[in-house]
Amino acid sequence: MTVGIPIRRLWPEPSDLPLDDATLTALYGRADQPRLRVNFVASLDGAVTVDGYSAGLSGEPDKRVFSLLRMLCDALVVAAGTLRHEGYRAVRLDERRRAWRREHGLAEYPTLVVVSGSLDLDPAQAAFADAPVRPVVLTHAGVDPPPGLADVADVLRCGTDRVDLAAGLDELHRRGLTQLLCEGGPHLLGALTAADLVDELCLTVAPLLAGPGPGRITAGDATPPRQLPLRHVLAADDGVLLLRHARG
Ligand SMILES: NC(=O)c1ccc[n+]([C@@H]2O[C@H](COP(=O)([O-])OP(=O)(O)OC[C@H]3O[C@@H](n4cnc5c(N)ncnc54)[C@H](OP(=O)(O)O)[C@@H]3O)[C@@H](O)[C@H]2O)c1
Repeated sequence: MTVGIPIRRLWPEPSDLPLDDATLTALYGRADQPRLRVNFVASLDGAVTVDGYSAGLSGEPDKRVFSLLRMLCDALVVAAGTLRHEGYRAVRLDERRRAWRREHGLAEYPTLVVVSGSLDLDPAQAAFADAPVRPVVLTHAGVDPPPGLADVADVLRCGTDRVDLAAGLDELHRRGLTQLLCEGGPHLLGALTAADLVDELCLTVAPLLAGPGPGRITAGDATPPRQLPLRHVLAADDGVLLLRHARG
């Protein structure tokens, strides 16, 4: 079944045929080993937001791949900054996507994992309060959770005074959450890049110039460059590019 604005493959093996959901699912897939996939949308000139939010960059093809990537993961990792700023709600999938997960032996919904150093989190936020699966908060030993947070989430401590991301991902793997999808934001991507934990980047390039002002998809202290080879280039009929880069 093809929905909405057609998406076609430009590289490798260019094809004029619009990609159906089954083909898109196979193109992104799940790995047979633990993997951290990161998904972002950016403008042509590298902006991560328009008017402060990612919504101004995202159209129907991006949303289609965004929800497909959520369907494919065991856990959805998001930084507290993005959770607060974008007002994350509970992670929900439509019945078609849930059916796919059941058929593949997965929980109906991925687990939300929130990365926070301060634990400045609101347990009443829908991402926690309405979660279909109990979320995990990844933090460190040097901070106490606010009242109510431990009632709605597992608080996982990795690191003494800052979050040890590598240890945190190892602990998620031990819990059976091996296919990880990170939806940002930029400071978390910067920290994951610094720790060389990014296996894959799915980047939607929106065909617009956002102009000066907004940040990039990455932020924080400088890190050594990391190679991430191109795996596919898809294009939607509205001019959006969908890139997948992954290491070996
Ligand atoms: N275009 C896109 O695809 C996209 C995607 C995501 C976000 N965004 C945009 O990005 C902006 C937010 O990004 P941001 O860079 O300011 O924030 P961010 O990376 O989303 O979040 C920063 C916060 O997350 C926690 N965090 C991140 N890395 C951490 C680490 N290594 N250890 C411990 N905690 C960590 C901390 O939370 P605490 O303060 O709780 O300690 C930190 O203050 C928003 O404008 C959002 O709309 C765009």
